[in-house]
Amino acid sequence: MVIYLVGNMFYDRERELKKLNEIYSRQGSSFVVVYGRRRVGKTALVREFLKGKLGIYLFVGEKDEALLLEDFTREVEMALSSYLPPYVRLRFSSLEELFEFLFDFSRDIKLVIILDEFQNFRSVKPSLFSSLQKLWDLKGEDSNVVLIAVGSYVGMMKRIFMDRKEPLFGRVDEWIKLKPFDFWRAYNFVNIPARDFVEIFSALGGMPKYLLYLRHYYNGNTIETLRSLFFDELSPLREEGFNVLKLEFGRYYRSYFSILEAVSLGYVTPKEISDKTGLKILTVGKYLSELTNHYEYLGKEVPATEDPRKTRKVSYFIRDEFFNFWFRFVYHNIQYLEEGEITKVLNDLRENFPAFVGKEYERIGREFIRRIDLGFSPLRVGRWWHKGEEIDVIAYNEEKVALFEVKWSDLSKARAKRLLRDLERKGELVPLRGERVYGLISREVEGKEELRNCGYLVFDLNDIVYIPPGKL
Ligand SMILES: Nc1ncnc2c1ncn2[C@@H]1O[C@H](COP(=O)(O)OP(=O)(O)O)[C@@H](O)[C@H]1O
Ligand SMILES: [Mg+2]
Repeated sequence: MVIYLVGNMFYDRERELKKLNEIYSRQGSSFVVVYGRRRVGKTALVREFLKGKLGIYLFVGEKDEALLLEDFTREVEMALSSYLPPYVRLRFSSLEELFEFLFDFSRDIKLVIILDEFQNFRSVKPSLFSSLQKLWDLKGEDSNVVLIAVGSYVGMMKRIFMDRKEPLFGRVDEWIKLKPFDFWRAYNFVNIPARDFVEIFSALGGMPKYLLYLRHYYNGNTIETLRSLFFDELSPLREEGFNVLKLEFGRYYRSYFSILEAVSLGYVTPKEISDKTGLKILTVGKYLSELTNHYEYLGKEVPATEDPRKTRKVSYFIRDEFFNFWFRFVYHNIQYLEEGEITKVLNDLRENFPAFVGKEYERIGREFIRRIDLGFSPLRVGRWWHKGEEIDVIAYNEEKVALFEVKWSDLSKARAKRLLRDLERKGELVPLRGERVYGLISREVEGKEELRNCGYLVFDLNDIVYIPPGKL
């Protein structure tokens, strides 16, 4: 089945390119960090940005300095060939000398220097950070360099640039965190039916690289597609969680992994996670804080009516759909997978994937509500829960409250009405004063127009997938 839309063309990233171009147009030098996890599209982005500009792309391989210097010298020669006297070969005795040359070169002309996988300098030549700092402080002002340090290990990049004890502390002008495509951009990137897409997006998220796999792996059946992507011995994504995260977490990765697994299974408070993993509550607290603030793999949620700084009703979630799925269905079942007991894993998937998609559809629903015009501008949009009662989406300001039930299913008219009645009951429990409007977000709703005529806000998958580009 040929399903692919975009071919090998560069897609979207308009905001990031706009930001980079704005930085490029500034006088003098700028130091930019582009970070984000492996395969999110950092290299593709900076290369796209470089097109049509004078600049040099340098990949910091984990080699020794002499070899790296040879690579870099060749790149510099090629990039600057029309500015260098013919037949002259450049020669540098160290990386420092090469960078100094580039800074001097850019005195009269704007020059982009990209250092991809910047954190690798740590193993190639740790003293380079301090040399770069000196060079930057000495020559940055009189030159016109846009220095872009690209890095995949969020924790490491933050340490290099944000730790007071590190030489490059405080030198960065702009941080650009590259995130996976959101639901709508991802949907427009691959061309598969919306119903299947919601399910597959629940497992892959908006990672361009993973979405590109659908070209070969999507076969019109979600479970089969996920099986071939994640669960067969040679599946491309089976080891991916290990590949991406082991290096990030280092020696203690097992504890981080247990916590992420627990969260993916629905243990979302520190107490629940501690009970599930057997880690002490203090330890869990420390890891949760690191995973949230430092590594940014977890997010923190509180009921939408409560003050996040005061409430104790905190619940954690895995931000990235891919990791959420990988921990829940791959890592959680790693024993079975290694023993070749794939049937057990597929049973787990068949049984629990629908509820998993249901949760993801709630997330998509909240994002959708943030992007559309509800007839008022909400101060907050989020989930709400209290004593076993839960509302999937609420959006409110002083005067208005919109409340939604989200269901990843096709609703009959009767079921829709029952859900709305129950939602109205729960709505009374929400401690807000504004006037209430109730609604449903479902895959399909029988009698959608009729319900709308009764004053309900009703959306189905066709409404969800279509947001005018301006609203993205
Ligand atoms: N904006 C994009 N449009 C099209 N393909 C992309 C885009 N971003 C990334 N890709 C593809 O996804 C894959 C991973 O991207 P890459 O830039 O290598 O990620 P990273 O450098 O963050 O590890 C590459 O095959 C790339 O072609
Ligand atoms: Mg890269």
